[in-house]
Amino acid sequence: MEFSINPVSPEKAAASHLLLPVAGDKLPSGLQKLDQATAGALGALLAGGELTAKAGSVLASHVTLGGKLVRVVLLQLGEAPQAADLRSAAAAGARALLAGKTADADVVLALPKGIDASETVAALAQALVVEEYRFDDFKSNPEPRPVLTQVNFAVAPKADVAGLEAAVARGAAVGRGMNLTRQLGNLPANVCTPTYLADEAVRLGKQQGLKVQVLDQPELEKLGMNSFLAVAKGSVQPPKLIVLEYRNGKKGAKPVVLVGKGITFDSGGISLKPGEGMDEMKYDMCGAATVLGTMQAAAQLALPINLVGVIATCENMPAGNANKPGDIVKSMAGLSIEVLNTDAEGRLILCDALTYAARFEPETVVDIATLTGACIIALGHVATGLYANDEPLAAELLQAAEHTGDKAWRLPLWDDYQEQLKSNFADLANIGGRPAGSVTAACFLARFTKDYRWAHLDIAGTAWKSGAAKGATGRPVPLLVEFLAERARHAAKKAK
Ligand code: BES
Ligand code: MN
Ligand code: ZN
Repeated sequence: MEFSINPVSPEKAAASHLLLPVAGDKLPSGLQKLDQATAGALGALLAGGELTAKAGSVLASHVTLGGKLVRVVLLQLGEAPQAADLRSAAAAGARALLAGKTADADVVLALPKGIDASETVAALAQALVVEEYRFDDFKSNPEPRPVLTQVNFAVAPKADVAGLEAAVARGAAVGRGMNLTRQLGNLPANVCTPTYLADEAVRLGKQQGLKVQVLDQPELEKLGMNSFLAVAKGSVQPPKLIVLEYRNGKKGAKPVVLVGKGITFDSGGISLKPGEGMDEMKYDMCGAATVLGTMQAAAQLALPINLVGVIATCENMPAGNANKPGDIVKSMAGLSIEVLNTDAEGRLILCDALTYAARFEPETVVDIATLTGACIIALGHVATGLYANDEPLAAELLQAAEHTGDKAWRLPLWDDYQEQLKSNFADLANIGGRPAGSVTAACFLARFTKDYRWAHLDIAGTAWKSGAAKGATGRPVPLLVEFLAERARHAAKKAK
């Protein structure tokens, strides 16, 4: 989908489909002329009362404009919309516009004072890209896909065109990043294997000019990643450590390193999961997919930062040679781990990836993982669990979550919980019992991240939806892109 910002008066909008955001029950003054050109049809539609005052209410109808029949979608933003209203309205508007089956459309922005035009266009661009996505690759007779390819934002002639273009680019890049993450998450595990993820990383690298390196089993052995390799043992799919580098910041500036959990299928291993709903464990690589989606967006936006992605990816399968309860492995960091439950595999692959991350002399490391069912018990499907060993970093991430509506909530990393990870036979155990399961998983990771600023995002509840609308959500790409973009803005300000 392509977007353009056109500083033209609304009545010059030429497409056969128009999206008209309104705020409240009055036609914005900027739409008066357009209303006259439709012989008052817009005003009549609005006065009809079918469009409610609630943000996201839509009313689609046909009107005649310049002798042509034009489909208009009135979109209620709400009287004094908060950011969350703008986002939900944008999603509803996008769905209504896409339902019109048109290849091109004009979005007429004649916003009343107090509604930020750039936030509005960013939300609309993001929503249009996200709502356009379908996962129908395996359907013999898929429903027809949306055909909207060109969206023009008609803005006031005096508008800040460059600023609005930047906002649209930001919204669209976040949307496309989310869609990449969703696509990889939705693909079944017999397609999206560790090798497939590595190939995707190479493809993304070529497309966006990133340096990509894929480390295979022999190299992982040489590095001493025995904890990671223990998880991979029971699978016929070879494990991969994928490293992507996007260097567009100051030369020598320390990078942010994103570390992703890429379990392409989590059967639980010998500690086998129950059968019901096990199909959803194809989503256990959403942390890895988030790294790719976020890096794609950062590169598309040409953010002036240094960013590294590290993805540990393998399958967790039962087999004659699989990792077993009671096995003791030596991690790359040198700590020995007693594997009391093979289903707590995410931390086993992440600890080695986090140790590896240190070689980039990171400014900050953020790992993203569908790590624990316990996080879903704590926070449901609303907020991502956030942990950090650094206060300003936690604040930055919470701010980005707040700003984007991609919610996160901080949970503690207190040493008191380390007690639960004690092992009779090794330096630590890989499970800490039922109490505070998301916290003890994070505390396990904390043992491997003492040398740098680090945050952990437990996305078990937020990376996908179950039920009728089963599918990957693309979270927390918005949060992470905002976090990185804010850092880029901050660096630019400091340089001035
Ligand atoms: N991938 C799962 C976590 C998960 C479960 C994510 C349900 C989304 C939905 C993880 O590898 C896992 O199995 N964790 C165990 C840990 C336990 C054995 C300590 C869990 O949460 O049950
Ligand atoms: Mn598991
Ligand atoms: Zn898992």
